[in-house]
Amino acid sequence: MDGQGQDHGGADAADALALRLAGARDAGMARAVLASVRHLHALVREVRPDPDDLRRALEFLTEVGQASDARRQEWVLLADVLGVSALVEDLAHPVPAGATPQTVAGPFYRADVPETAQGADLCLDGRGEPLVAVLHIRAPDGRAVPGAWVEVWQANGEGLYENQEPDRQPEFNLRGRIRADADGAVRFRSVRPKGYRLPDDGPVGQLFARLGLPIERPAHLHVRVTAPGFRPLVTHVFDRDDPAIGRDAIFGVKPGLLAEFRAVPGGVGPRWSVEVTLVLVPDCGTTDQPARGKARAEARQGGN
Ligand code: BEZ
Ligand code: FE
Repeated sequence: MDGQGQDHGGADAADALALRLAGARDAGMARAVLASVRHLHALVREVRPDPDDLRRALEFLTEVGQASDARRQEWVLLADVLGVSALVEDLAHPVPAGATPQTVAGPFYRADVPETAQGADLCLDGRGEPLVAVLHIRAPDGRAVPGAWVEVWQANGEGLYENQEPDRQPEFNLRGRIRADADGAVRFRSVRPKGYRLPDDGPVGQLFARLGLPIERPAHLHVRVTAPGFRPLVTHVFDRDDPAIGRDAIFGVKPGLLAEFRAVPGGVGPRWSVEVTLVLVPDCGTTDQPARGKARAEARQGGN
């Protein structure tokens, strides 16, 4: 670039762009765009794609867009399997030592689950191996958090969520919204969740198949906890004995989220129990409402 701010070829287009963006009205967006461009240019210098490679990459991104609609969000799936969603979560919500780690909510969350009684059976279709779950909600100093709202959702014994097969599972199957008791405890009955594979019929699944990468998620319960004076906690309770525990496709497994699903002796057929303590992070100004962004969550239902 010369003194008049004229470009001379693409030798350092990023620097030229920086000058053009200097007066941008949205300075935050300009910074993000410029950083993206600098990283993209560094990527091109490192990988040295030829024009055909670039065309194929653009075709892939086009397919990701075409596979996304109101019911399926292939872009979110891409962010999840590349570890971007988990990284954003970790950086946005750093968790102090001793508190329960945050994870993504995933596409199957519903904010509209009616209140569920303590001890209720969340399994509405009688299918699966019965599970009894106890969650203890605590502050970092070990005090119980009575009255916390605890939302839970999970896949069934076949690895499928209610909103993935609305014609087969009753509405709100394996979902609950339970208020913690005076001891900060929430008890419910359910079924042992099974791990599942992320959808592999779109461009992201095809990319992973080509690379031989795993698309499994080890078995888990999802939990969202809200209580006045604490940051909302969105997390998973993973079955530590699931064979896929070391290869979660979306990098959600953390040591503090592993739980033992214990066999309960006696009775007819297998029965299981799980008991975990979830430690919240104090905050100011939070409420006890279900998650905002319901429309966005619904847009992701059933799709990925
Ligand atoms: C889930 O656990 O429900 C999930 C999270 C991210 C991507 C796909 C599924
Ligand atoms: Fe899940």
